[in-house]
Amino acid sequence: MFTYHMPARIRFGVGESSQLPDEIKALGITRLLIVTDPGILKAGLVTPIAELLEKSGIHIEINDQVAQNPRDTDCLHGAELFNAINAEAVLAIGGGSAMDTAKTIALLAKSGGTPSDYADGHLPYRQIAPILCVPTTAGTGSEVTRSAVITESSTHRKMTLKHENMRPVLAVLDPQLTVSVQASVTAATGVDALVHAIEGYTCTVTSPLSKAYGAEAMRTIVPALPLAVEDGKNLRARTKMLEGSLLAGLSFGNADVASVHCLAEALGSVYDTPHGVANAIFLPHVLRFNADGHVPLHATLARLMRFASDTDSDERAMEKLITGIFSFTRLLGIPLLSELPRISQEDFGRLVDLAYENGSTPSNVRSITKQEYRMILEETYAYNG
Ligand SMILES: [Fe+2]
Repeated sequence: MFTYHMPARIRFGVGESSQLPDEIKALGITRLLIVTDPGILKAGLVTPIAELLEKSGIHIEINDQVAQNPRDTDCLHGAELFNAINAEAVLAIGGGSAMDTAKTIALLAKSGGTPSDYADGHLPYRQIAPILCVPTTAGTGSEVTRSAVITESSTHRKMTLKHENMRPVLAVLDPQLTVSVQASVTAATGVDALVHAIEGYTCTVTSPLSKAYGAEAMRTIVPALPLAVEDGKNLRARTKMLEGSLLAGLSFGNADVASVHCLAEALGSVYDTPHGVANAIFLPHVLRFNADGHVPLHATLARLMRFASDTDSDERAMEKLITGIFSFTRLLGIPLLSELPRISQEDFGRLVDLAYENGSTPSNVRSITKQEYRMILEETYAYNG
């Protein structure tokens, strides 16, 4: 038994962002709030789209107050602006941070309250403005998912807002917009997408559809990512990566993530570590833990990602998965946990608590205790390549 919900119209291809005016008009929308961050604006990705929209008679206002880890206060200001200009929809142009901020603005503008009210269950998710997304990184998949991760400024707590109403209605993916992303960000966001595929495929709440999308995402991402990191202008590799991150979003977006994300989000809360870097650091260690007891499943992952072949035994394929992922992340230039700034073993208790309390812990394929999270964290910290 499963449910799969996917309301977004998806338009994909090099140059497809030029079709935005027609797509938006077809939705009957004439007034838009564009949500982006100062880096994307400076990179020149917003202006051509804004000009196209204005030329076609769509009234726009640009809000570039998006932080790397999106804050509740910016969402509240965005919602005020949305209502002040009588906007009818939000258009996110950017990575996961811009899209998550836009989703939350769309909710607050129509239903009031603060992000904490929804994350803590004090307010129901009711009306929401239409959400339109143009991703500029290949990683998050937020253009097709129902969630947004927002930081509560007063406590630094990372909150997940999650509801079917928060799924975008339009996603336009143009690989051309991702060519200027620097190599280290390409690597980190790309591994985030791979983890979405792996966790969407293996989690306890997966479905045949999430598995199909996850499998295709793994097959697509592993060969493309090193090429996109090596040469950002390789449009074929960029196209494959954007395709892979979309497929991964379609996988976990109707299932869940699991313990790699639980540890990564804990690290992000305490040290502000970029999400993709944190995921990449924990991925091989969590896989090693999960594979114990789920050998055939992890042998399948190894074969999907071409770390092992059909002639390898399950046991051998599972071993090749672990060594393959270790060398894959090192090849991409992902740092070790011990190489990150400010990491202190004194914080490990807090990190373990945060990971264990994460709502996605029960979704991990192998049930996991606090002690086991501690063991994985210690092992990751001691690992020196
Ligand atoms: Fe993620």
